[in-house]
Amino acid sequence: MADATRVPIVGGNWKMHGTRSHAAELLHALRAALDGITDIEIVICPPTPWLADATDALSEGTLQVGAQNVHWETEGAFTGEQSAAMLVGTVSHVLIGHSERRHVFGETDEQTNHKFRSVIDAGLTPILAVGELEAEREAGTTEDVLRRQLHAAFEGLRTLPIGTVIAYEPVWAIGSGRAATPEIAQEAASAVRSIVADRFSESTGALIRIQYGGSVNADNASDLAAQPDIDGALVGGASLQASEFASICGAFAHAHRLSEA
Ligand code: 13P
Repeated sequence: MADATRVPIVGGNWKMHGTRSHAAELLHALRAALDGITDIEIVICPPTPWLADATDALSEGTLQVGAQNVHWETEGAFTGEQSAAMLVGTVSHVLIGHSERRHVFGETDEQTNHKFRSVIDAGLTPILAVGELEAEREAGTTEDVLRRQLHAAFEGLRTLPIGTVIAYEPVWAIGSGRAATPEIAQEAASAVRSIVADRFSESTGALIRIQYGGSVNADNASDLAAQPDIDGALVGGASLQASEFASICGAFAHAHRLSEA
């Protein structure tokens, strides 16, 4: 059972899907399905063109808005990019180090570090994604990979803001329909927590929230939510369906209420 002191956080990463009218409908449906849920935090991450629409649509509710990407410089001649400073006032969270950024766009650990620090410097909350490739899991190097990615992302930081969220997203589970088993997800989340505790402090490790991501759906969410070190989910495909996403959020809210009882 998850620790009652950590409020679960569920993110909906829409990736590059939808149209503007579909986004408006989905925001409306999400608001109807989710608004008023106070047991957990929920962060909706639409594509960049609709971030402001999302912020407006959700402004009077409890749902928060996150960006999917950021550039690490504050401003400059970087065509097509957006800085964390520019996102201030529109979003509360920013995804950093997502496997698609790392593996499709070739982002390095060093760039992830720059982005991570720029988000913290701007006063926004990073959701830092880490996770191993299938070959790395098969080679038994999962924990080494997580340690390397986390240490690289934390380079230069003396402390970690307690609001920071870390998403354990095994690459092989993303978009594959093959979610990690709750045991595998728990083992990796526990490893992430230990790495954070060793790098910063016991209390940071104990307070930081760790999400699992990779083929989360309404059917597997409850078992994942029941794991002691999993404090939420980062949801891709299933976040594009309001009722499915609401079920996932409901599973984490339920697990949290049980942990408090
Ligand atoms: P899926 O839920 O579609 O597997 O995507 C997970 C993910 O990458 C969330 O960031």
